[in-house]
Amino acid sequence: MVTIVWDLKKPLPELRINEEIVLKPVSREDLKEVGKILVVTWGGFIKSPETTERYVGPYLSAGLEQPFLAYLGTKPVGCVSPRLDKESKVGVLDGGVHVLPEHRRKRIGTTLLLMALQWLKDCGMERAKVTPFNPEGEEAIQRAIAFYLSTDGRII
Ligand SMILES: CC(C)(COP(=O)(O)OP(=O)(O)OC[C@H]1O[C@@H](n2cnc3c(N)ncnc32)[C@H](O)[C@@H]1OP(=O)(O)O)[C@@H](O)C(=O)NCCC(=O)NCCS
Repeated sequence: MVTIVWDLKKPLPELRINEEIVLKPVSREDLKEVGKILVVTWGGFIKSPETTERYVGPYLSAGLEQPFLAYLGTKPVGCVSPRLDKESKVGVLDGGVHVLPEHRRKRIGTTLLLMALQWLKDCGMERAKVTPFNPEGEEAIQRAIAFYLSTDGRII
């Protein structure tokens, strides 16, 4: 397993984004929508949307994690959930970036990632990190690594 980090003390990378989608912060009531995406994109790691509600809910309520959904019209098509670590100042992309298969390679992942990095930076984090993981297998993990490296992440 590798860890990928971003230096948030530097300006965020200038990357082409998807102008069509709208990103919205997720409230506790809408966490299930995040779970519905993860059930599709995470190779069975999340078996029901309620898992996300149970796992992320307490962090959200404590103000430590803020999931974002990407909407194409009224349909959620991607998500990311940055979480603070106030002690280390290294924020975590909890579970990484996820985009529904039929909407990939349209810069939606990049748009979500930049939002997550900006949120972590605004909350005082100095670095962000993610451990690329997908139970679908090595191909999915390599795809995630290629994606994170394309967004200025560095393997440590
Ligand atoms: C990884 C993932 C989030 C990328 O989302 P996306 O919206 O398709 O990514 P983008 O369109 O923003 O891609 C940005 C760049 O990343 C790289 N990239 C993205 N997908 C890639 C792939 N399948 N192969 C190689 N490079 C890829 C490319 O450099 C791409 O730029 P380009 O399309 O101009 O060549 C998406 O594939 C996904 O949801 N995968 C399944 C869930 C998952 O495993 N998430 C990570 C968990 S840690």
